[in-house]
Amino acid sequence: MAPSLSLLLICLLALYTPVTSKKECGRPSLGDGMDLEGLQRVYSPGDVVVLSCKQGYSPTSGSRTIICTASGQWTKSRLKCSTKSCSFPEALDHGDMEFVDIVYQSTINYTCHEGYTLQGASTIECLHDGQWSDPPPTCTPVTCGLPPIPKYGKIVYDSKFTGNMTVFGFGGTYECFPPLVLIGNERGSCSTNGDWTEPPECKLVTCSAPTDINNGYMNIHDKREYGFKETVRYGCNIDYVLDGPVEIECLQTGDWSIKPACRVPCKVDIKRGRILYNGRTFWIKDFEPNKISHGEVLSVYCMNKEKKCGYAVSTQCIDGNLKIPECFEEPSDKFNDDSLPSEIAQC
Ligand SMILES: *[C@@H]1O[C@H](CO)[C@@H](O)[C@H](O)[C@H]1NC(C)=O
Ligand SMILES: *[C@@H]1O[C@H](CO)[C@@H](O)[C@H](O)[C@H]1NC(C)=O
Repeated sequence: MAPSLSLLLICLLALYTPVTSKKECGRPSLGDGMDLEGLQRVYSPGDVVVLSCKQGYSPTSGSRTIICTASGQWTKSRLKCSTKSCSFPEALDHGDMEFVDIVYQSTINYTCHEGYTLQGASTIECLHDGQWSDPPPTCTPVTCGLPPIPKYGKIVYDSKFTGNMTVFGFGGTYECFPPLVLIGNERGSCSTNGDWTEPPECKLVTCSAPTDINNGYMNIHDKREYGFKETVRYGCNIDYVLDGPVEIECLQTGDWSIKPACRVPCKVDIKRGRILYNGRTFWIKDFEPNKISHGEVLSVYCMNKEKKCGYAVSTQCIDGNLKIPECFEEPSDKFNDDSLPSEIAQC
């Protein structure tokens, strides 16, 4: 029994030893962008493998072959694969480009500025051979025909041109034949959609005869129609105050600009007492003429009953209305001067 067992052990050892002494290589580790042909799971000592660079990568240096050595290690390769680059793109006239890199598989996006259209590919890609997929696009201006001209008007171009086509941005200034008035945009140009901007109209503008104002007068007497931009001046009768512009103008719309008004003077509506006006005091019966102009201010006197002192309270004439402050008390007709708030100590 024992001899046969030891024989078996010897046989097993004999089988095992050659296997362990002859080592194999695993898959070689590959650097960035590297490739190899006929990948196997295991390689025997002496096996030779040729490394290469993948599409889009170019070899820079070093030998390409590695050998599986008896110790189960691959020899070192100094091959390096670097990404291929495409040429640096030129700037796009009247447009923009967007890109992050110019290496294999990078893309460039192109766009054109307003008023320009893109001719060609809007996106190009850097291919494995280091060439761009398409030539760069161009931006060509939008074109328009000739501008619309208003009846009884014309356009004066910004610069000379011939033919029946204009390009984006080209423009001019419209004019109307006098006495017609230009209503709308004075400027016109070829716009982004290939059409000219909306032309103006040439119209005859008249305003009906201007109307009088109360308590005032106009500098004209003829009741005729007036033309665009004609003016009329207004004035006010004595003691009346002009509120608003002195002059009105016939507008594009055929209406007059806002008319002024003549504001009415005020009467000081108290029978007795003293007032303060323009820094001076007056007994009302001596205030002649009893009249202050629109916008002017005067004061009446009120009594502080607790402190037994007088004080002036001001009020303003607004278009014929002068509100007497509520604290004012009209003295009786047999009043004693010395007791009036205007005559006693002031607060
Ligand atoms: C190009 O445009 C595409 C689609 O709009 C976008 O996904 C991509 O990020 C753009 N590329 C660059 C480089 O801007
Ligand atoms: C522009 O003029 C050319 C000849 O000069 C003519 O063939 C063409 O039809 C014209 N185009 C327009 C839009 O009028």
